[in-house]
Amino acid sequence: MLDLEMEEALNEQINAEIYSGYLYLSMASEFASRGLDGFENWMRGQFVEELNHAMRLYEYVDSRGGRVKLQEIERPKGEWGSPLEVFKDVYEHEQKVTEMIADLVDLADEKNDLPTIQMLQWFIEEQVEEEESAEEIVEKLEMIGEDYSGLMMLDKELGQRPVGSIFPIKPQENE
Ligand code: FEO
Repeated sequence: MLDLEMEEALNEQINAEIYSGYLYLSMASEFASRGLDGFENWMRGQFVEELNHAMRLYEYVDSRGGRVKLQEIERPKGEWGSPLEVFKDVYEHEQKVTEMIADLVDLADEKNDLPTIQMLQWFIEEQVEEEESAEEIVEKLEMIGEDYSGLMMLDKELGQRPVGSIFPIKPQENE
């Protein structure tokens, strides 16, 4: 049985993951309005991934006899000045999520909740990847600067990302 304080904290994380998806969908729309289809595709992939992070937590809370309680989703930012500004926000946001995961690990440790600590290992590794990919794109965009052909090349590259699907039956099979 899941400790109540732990359950509440995991429910907050479900909200944070869905908010992340909402933010990335807003970024996808920003890129769509700029005609940058590859960037839009990348953000749509990120949107799906975040919803799957939420579902992974949903499944976990349920499997421990807890109750998923959904909360209000905050309205995300809706406009950015440049692709670089968007990705700087992605990087900053992912760093915040990493801190949230670390706080969950601290709480689980305090509660001596080993299954939750083990479950969170996946998120710790995922956050390393999330920060790394955002930082890499920030660096590429900084190098590109005002070079339109460079931006188009990156757009093509980001268009290769598979978008994935939402709500897998077994969340561990879909990251
Ligand atoms: Fe679910 Fe991008 O962290």
